[in-house]
Order: sequence, then structure tokens, then C-alpha cells
Amino acid sequence: MTAVAISATGLYTPSQSIANAELVASYNAYAARFNAEHAEAIAQGQVAALTPSSEEFIEKASGIKSRFVLDKIGVLDIDRMRPDLPERPNDQASLMAEIGVNAAQEALHAVGREACDVDAVLCAASNMQRAYPAIAIEIQDLLGIDGFAFDMNVACSSATFGVKTATDFIAAGEARAVLVVNPEICSGHLNWRDRDSHFIFGDVATAILVERADRAPAGAWRILGVRLKTRFSNNIRNNFGFLNRAAPEGEGAPDKLFVQEGRKVFKEVVPMVAEMIQDHMGALGMAPGALRRMWLHQANANMNRLIAERVLGRAADADESPTVLDAYANTSSAGSIIAFHKYNKDLKAGDRGLICSFGAGYSAGTVFVEKTA
Ligand code: COA
Repeated sequence: MTAVAISATGLYTPSQSIANAELVASYNAYAARFNAEHAEAIAQGQVAALTPSSEEFIEKASGIKSRFVLDKIGVLDIDRMRPDLPERPNDQASLMAEIGVNAAQEALHAVGREACDVDAVLCAASNMQRAYPAIAIEIQDLLGIDGFAFDMNVACSSATFGVKTATDFIAAGEARAVLVVNPEICSGHLNWRDRDSHFIFGDVATAILVERADRAPAGAWRILGVRLKTRFSNNIRNNFGFLNRAAPEGEGAPDKLFVQEGRKVFKEVVPMVAEMIQDHMGALGMAPGALRRMWLHQANANMNRLIAERVLGRAADADESPTVLDAYANTSSAGSIIAFHKYNKDLKAGDRGLICSFGAGYSAGTVFVEKTA
């Protein structure tokens, strides 16, 4: 079978960011106003008062200190509390395609590739901003790539499932190179009025150039194996869809946004993912000591600490399991790719690492890679 490699990655980071202090100040102003407006009903026990959010809690529970967003003003405005990202006319590039192209161009330029070197584009992300035409086909068009393109959504595992799909197309001889693009505009699906989750997500786009290993440049990451797993769970859910649209603005439709049972997710996903990594390492004949670095899904620092500890049999340091959660928060499928993008260049030929995703579905993916000479 044709060997396959990750040749390059690209990253688009929005220019605006929101620190925990600003986020909490906005939420608490909203909560105080809500409580004042509903004082009577609260006093009569008909409405539950909103409790303030706290910076200390957010950092301790998640490791998140800040998040990048495409529209800070709309998110922090307590009359709005969602990004103001106006729909564009059909003759303009859509926002998801635009930020995806940005990341894709960085990946292509990093290794001197042109549009003619790529045969397929996958837009793999947690949310698509329209039903059709596929965002991937728009990205393909904007980049001038021939061949084919399609969208795929496996929530937080979209990128690893995309890498597996790309690998299979290349291994089957159907493409020489596939661009997997992950534009994650998570600010649009987050309920900024929900104290339990308002701190979780940020916006970003990543891109991964997957190529035949014999065409890949020196220093590319050969893919040793990819495994995927899904197990149905309602613990992370968003009911938005073409049959179930959100209620008019302001009236609230919290189930048409991201909703989770965070504790349950934590408890159920940590063992599932640790076991999956261990099984996959066993199948590849790799002892824990053979793993130089883990680029884990970036949802929660404590989850990553526990998973790394189970896999290595001891605590992992920041060099072995780097985090980008502090600056980026959870960026869904892009998180482990940001970590890989920022923290792979210092490794040496022969070093082995793991890109790992997990999230809604549940879904999880493990991509073991080895740096080439
Ligand atoms: N500020 C202050 N306190 C808060 C708070 C906030 N913003 N949000 C919740 N709390 C409080 C709760 O009210 C609760 O108080 P209580 O014990 O008095 O009832 C306490 O903090 C603990 O809440 P809990 O929801 O159990 O927190 P947690 O320690 O489980 O952390 C998450 C919450 C979401 C960070 C954590 O569960 C998590 O990361 N889970 C996995 C998330 C994940 O990977 N999701 C996938 C997304 S794709």
C-alpha cells in the first residue's frame, strides 16, 4: 500500500481575542441585569437567579485563559451575546471558506505546493454555515484546485477523520495529495449566556496537507496508522438543523446551540480515549517510551493530563503533551492540529508522535506519525 505523510499544516488565527476577565465581566453584567429585571419572580421562587461566573473557576476547571474570536464586540455586548457575522451575498467568499483558504495557503506555501499539486479538498469541521454547495467545493474553487471536494462533520474529531479519509484516497491511488481544511467558527454555536459553558470555545482555522510519502518533502510526518471510533452519546449535543432552526433572536433556544454534561463527558471520554491510544500503540508495536509527543484534542487541560498519564504510566510534561488551550480555548477539531502545527518542528527524524481527537458523538481518532529524514 502507498505510504502517506503529513507534509505541512497551516493555521489562521483571528486578530481579536477575549481574555477570561473580559468574558466574565460581560457575563456577570448580563446576569446582574437579568436578576434585577426578574427580582420579583426570583423572590417568589418562580425564576432561578443567575449566579456569577468566575475567572478562577474557568482557568482551574479548563486551563483556558483566553480565546480568539471573529467578532468580539457582538459576543461581549450583553444585548446580543453572539458574534455579529453578517451573511454575505452569494458572489462573495463565505466566511468559513475565507478563513479555511487562509490556513490552506499557509500549508501549501510552507512546502512550495501549487493548486495543481492537490487532487482533493475536504472541509472537515463541526458546523457548516450552509447546507450546500459544500464549503469544501468553494475552498477548492478559491484555491483553483482541480479534482473533487466535499464536507464532512464528525464534531471535534472532524480533522482526524479527515486525515483518515485523505489517507485512504491517497493509499488507494485516487489522489496524490489531499487538503484537509478545518474552519471552526465555534463562537457561533456557543451559548454565551450559559455560565457552565460560556468560556469553552474559540474560533480558528487549520489545514493539513496529506500527500503520498514519496512526494512529501524532507521532515514530513509519515502516517504510521489511523484509527477511528464512535459511540453514541447525548452528553454533547446541538439540535440545530434544517428541520429544527433556532428560535428568533433573544427568545433563546439553548438546545439549538452547544449543550453538554461536562462532568459525564469528562468521566466517559478519558478512559475511552486512553484505552484506544493504548490499543493502537500495541497494534503498532510501540511501547509508551517510544512516544515522543502527544498532540491531544484541546478541550480541557485536566482531561489531557489524565489521558497522558494513563498512556505513559506517569505524568507528562509540557514538552510531551503541549497545550494551546490557554490561548485558543477549545477550537473543536482544530485543537490538536494547532498543537501539532506549533509544536512539531523541534522533533528529530525517527521521532514518533500522536495526533488525537475526541468529542461529540462520542467520536475519537488516533493518528500516529513518524518524522522522516
Ligand atoms: N464560574 C464559576 N463557577 C462555575 C462556572 C463558572 N463559569 N461554571 C460552573 N461552575 C460551578 C458549578 O456551578 C459547580 O458548582 P457546585 O459544585 O456548587 O454545583 C462547580 O462549578 C462545578 O461544576 P462542574 O460543571 O461540575 O465543573 P467541572 O469541574 O466538571 O468543569 C468543565 C466543567 C466543562 C470544564 C468540565 O466538565 C469539562 O471540561 N468537561 C469535558 C468537556 C469536553 O471535553 N467537552 C467536549 C466539548 S467538544
